[in-house]
Amino acid sequence: MKKQVYSIIGIVVVAVAAGVGIILLTSFSAPREDVENLSNKQTIELPSPSTESEVSVEEAIFSRTSVRSFADAPLNQREVGQLLWSAAGKTVDGVTGATRAYPSAGGIYPLETYLVAGEVENLAPGVYRYDWANHELIKIVSGDQRGDLTRAALGQRIIADAPATLVLTGDTARTGRRYGSRGEDRYVPMEAGGAGQNIHLQAETLNLGTVIIGAFDDNQVQSALGGIDELPLYIMPVGHK
Ligand SMILES: Cc1cc2nc3c(=O)[nH]c(=O)nc-3n(C[C@H](O)[C@H](O)[C@H](O)COP(=O)(O)O)c2cc1C
Repeated sequence: MKKQVYSIIGIVVVAVAAGVGIILLTSFSAPREDVENLSNKQTIELPSPSTESEVSVEEAIFSRTSVRSFADAPLNQREVGQLLWSAAGKTVDGVTGATRAYPSAGGIYPLETYLVAGEVENLAPGVYRYDWANHELIKIVSGDQRGDLTRAALGQRIIADAPATLVLTGDTARTGRRYGSRGEDRYVPMEAGGAGQNIHLQAETLNLGTVIIGAFDDNQVQSALGGIDELPLYIMPVGHK
């Protein structure tokens, strides 16, 4: 009798363990929604991001201001890579996988980050999607899109003048699937606040300037970025002060 009970317990334990294993395997091997359909695109490896700085976080907070006028000088790949990483890059590995530079409701990470490059050394003008897992750029659109993006942002010239601009967008459905309309309407824009502030502070440490642009036409921004589906949240032109 005792033996039978033990073997039943054993079967149950093995079945539960197998079930958990299958769930873990399927969740970790699930296709990445953020880079679906982009596998045939050109990718550009970025210089590894630094996790050290001579500027303290307190100094960066203290000196941060919106900058709306830039020197006529290009950015380089190290600078744009560092800014993209600060917004949404891969950080320490947690229990359930890699964590990211911005906090995200449920660890869903619905934000996408685009680089609209005009004058970046060794990088052709165009629109690039940031692949956070590999710290790479994926080319989405060829050619300088700064004019279209400026028009989409009610003609705010700072975008045309900046050597590069970061655009944060939100895939609201991703968060909505777990949190419904509160996730879509509130959590996703809330998360852009964290990522945007990271960019602001990181720019300070690099002695660069930026400003959050929130006044824009959503559809026109989506077109300027090559017809993306996500909701545009922040436009942040970056340049030398
Ligand atoms: C959600 C949001 C939208 C904004 N939109 C614009 C904008 O469209 N154009 C602009 O020049 N500044 C914009 N700003 C920047 C604010 O004007 C700026 O943060 C504010 O004047 C405070 O100045 P400071 O950033 O130098 O502290 C925006 C800021 C936020 C947070």
